[in-house]
Amino acid sequence: MNPDCYHIPVMLDECLAGLNIKPDGTYIDLTYGGGGHSKEIIKHLSAKGHLYGFDQDLDAMKGAMEDERFTFVRSNFRYIKNWMQYYGVEQVDGILADLGVSSHHLDEGGRGFSFRYDAPLDMRMNQAGKVSAKNIVAEYSEEQLADILYYYGELKQSRRIASAIVKARNKGDIATTGQLAEVVSPMLGFDREKKDLARVFQALRIEVNGEMKVLKEMLANATDILAPGGRLVIMTYHSLEDRIVKNHIKGNDKDNRDSQDAHSMIFGQTKTALRAINKNVITASPEELTSNPRSRSAKLRIAEKK
Ligand SMILES: C[S@@+](CC[C@H](N)C(=O)[O-])C[C@H]1O[C@@H](n2cnc3c(N)ncnc32)[C@H](O)[C@@H]1O
Repeated sequence: MNPDCYHIPVMLDECLAGLNIKPDGTYIDLTYGGGGHSKEIIKHLSAKGHLYGFDQDLDAMKGAMEDERFTFVRSNFRYIKNWMQYYGVEQVDGILADLGVSSHHLDEGGRGFSFRYDAPLDMRMNQAGKVSAKNIVAEYSEEQLADILYYYGELKQSRRIASAIVKARNKGDIATTGQLAEVVSPMLGFDREKKDLARVFQALRIEVNGEMKVLKEMLANATDILAPGGRLVIMTYHSLEDRIVKNHIKGNDKDNRDSQDAHSMIFGQTKTALRAINKNVITASPEELTSNPRSRSAKLRIAEKK
C-alpha cells in the first residue's frame, strides 16, 4: 500500500491553524486514515508533545507512521475517553476529526464502498464489524430503507428505490455492488444517475457504520476530555453531520445536554462547554476546490473548551 495514494488531506492548513498547536501538548487525530493530518501535526510537536491517532480500519493501522511521540489506536473513536483513561491521559489540548471514508476506501474495489467496482456489498470501515451493507439491503423493512435513503442520501425518490430493492430481493439475493446498482439505477434520474447512485451508496455506508450515532457520542466524550482552552476541530461532508457538530458546539443537541460533564442545564438554559472559534462554517479555498475534488463538500468547524 502506497501511503501517498491513500488520501489527499483536506483543508490541512485550516485544520492545523484550528488546533493552535502547543509544542509540548497532547493531541488526538480521531480519523488517522492515511495520516495526512497526523504527519503535519507531529511536525509541530516537541519531544515532550504526544499525538494519538485513532482509526477503526485495519488498513489505516498497517500504514501508520512510527514515531516515539505517536501512538496508534485501532478503535472506533466513540471510545476516545476510555482509551485516554487507559493511557493515563486526563486532558488533551486538541482533537481533530476528518469524518467519513477515505479515498482509499473508495479506490479499494474489494471493500464495496463504490459502484465503480463490482464487489461484495460490504462497506464496513471496521473489517470486524458485524453488519454489512448486504445485511441491511436483505433485512431492513421497505420503510427503514426508504428512511435511510431519504435522510442519509437526501434522495427524493427514496420510496421508489426502497420498493425496487424489496421487489428484487424477493427474487434473489442482492449481494454485490453491481447487483445493487442494477436494481436501483432505473429509479434514478437519467441525467444524474451517477450522482444519485453515489448517494444511495453513501446512505448505506452511513447506516452500516452507525456514523451519526457515533459522531454524537464522540463529540460528548471529546468535549469532556479537552483541557480549558483546548481545541475541537471537526470536518464533515454531509449536511446532517454538520448540523450535529454545529448544535453540539452551541450546546443545542439534546443528547449532549444529557451529558452533565459536557454541558449543564441551568433554569432550562444550556450552559455550553465550548466557544465557537469560527462563527460561519469554513470551506476549502478556491485553489483546493480545483485541485482536490473531495474538498468540495467539506465543512470545517472549530471550537474551544471554556
Ligand atoms: C476522511 S478519512 C481521514 C483521512 C485523514 N485525515 C488523512 O488525511 O489521511 C476518515 C478515516 O476515519 C476513519 N473513521 C471513520 N469513522 C471512524 C470511527 N467512528 N472510528 C474510528 N475511525 C473512523 C475511517 O476508517 C477513515 O480512515
